[in-house]
Amino acid sequence: MPAESADEAALVEGVDVYPVHCLDQVVRFLNGETQLSILKRENSCFVTQNKNNNALDFAEVKGQHSVRRAVEIAVSGGHNLLMIGPPGSGKSMIAKRIPGIMPPPLNDEFLEILSIYSAAGIARETDKNCSARPFRSPHHTISEVGLLGGGVLPGPGEISLAHHGVLFLDELPEFKRSALEVLRQPLEDGSVTISRSAGKITLPCSVMLVAAMNPCPCGYAGSNGKACRCSLPQIHRYRSRISGPLLDRIDLHIEAPALRVEELRKAPTGESSEDIRERCRIAREIQADRFSHTQGNSSLCNSRMNAKEINRHCAINDRQGVLLQNALEQLQLSARAYDRILKVARTIADLNAQELISDNALLEAIQYRSLDRGLFK
Ligand SMILES: Nc1ncnc2c1ncn2[C@@H]1O[C@H](COP(=O)(O)OP(=O)(O)OP(=O)(O)O)[C@@H](O)[C@H]1O
Ligand SMILES: [Mg+2]
Repeated sequence: MPAESADEAALVEGVDVYPVHCLDQVVRFLNGETQLSILKRENSCFVTQNKNNNALDFAEVKGQHSVRRAVEIAVSGGHNLLMIGPPGSGKSMIAKRIPGIMPPPLNDEFLEILSIYSAAGIARETDKNCSARPFRSPHHTISEVGLLGGGVLPGPGEISLAHHGVLFLDELPEFKRSALEVLRQPLEDGSVTISRSAGKITLPCSVMLVAAMNPCPCGYAGSNGKACRCSLPQIHRYRSRISGPLLDRIDLHIEAPALRVEELRKAPTGESSEDIRERCRIAREIQADRFSHTQGNSSLCNSRMNAKEINRHCAINDRQGVLLQNALEQLQLSARAYDRILKVARTIADLNAQELISDNALLEAIQYRSLDRGLFK
């Protein structure tokens, strides 16, 4: 193996990896004139790297308890999340701290992540967090090709580079509507097919979408502090940049209100990333155990359950069924939202180590779908 690729190859089980720097070295090795040492898996930079050395910690975030809770649920089950709030409420700050609470990828997941980076020609070991799940945060000027993949020689886009990790779209309404629309199918399927004259390729993109936005162009609609200066049509136009079908794919909608001055003056009271990460890790372990018998399901989290698995693992009783039905009617939610609410409820139950979905878990999951109804009508 070229020495530069040896760290990656050493992760594959059952092969001995000899890093070499030139062909001459190979010839001499094959002629028995020189010795080469094997790079062991445990010496690969991906294994030796200090895990989760993300310097940003959730302990620095003041207030925003409900946002923290929603983020924890989203990370635990791999659910999509949208944060809505006025400028300076901490949305971007919280999003940047998400990598620090994500459990490390499983070995199979990590090999897939590395393969995609190799295909894109990006050396992942140059990243200081190279053994963590990817966190991609493209700028809102990005093109459809940049997001989905493509080009003259088809290659992975941001959504595939975020495979098994997070795709963070900050200032969501600023993205080109056409770019957001092409995300719809890949978000649902967990894979993206790119057709170009040079050929057609399908790449995996099992991502957790995290998005942040202001409620209106000036940023202060509905906030207790500053008065909003936008007219109703302006607000309507702004929000309509995000289509209903895209919103429908976002499981948790959460409001990040402006912090009160008292809260700002106080020291932060929230938990550290380490504590949150531990709970997410346990919840993911429960899920990995649950799906260990499912073939072809490489990402073992609740958000990726298919219809059959939802039936099997998200059973609710008759009373809860009526409750959910009423909520769906009142909030005018789709059949997709029905499934997604059940998946989120399953994750909340996993975080509580409950085998069955409780009323509280179901109600909490429904509540995360109610915000968009008021805002995006
Ligand atoms: N909850 C918070 N706790 C501590 N500091 C905060 C909090 N919210 C905001 N800040 C401070 O304000 C700065 C700006 O916050 P941030 O960029 O996250 O706001 P935002 O919600 O993304 O705003 P915008 O809508 O303008 O993008 C942070 O870097 C931080 O210093
Ligand atoms: Mg921001």
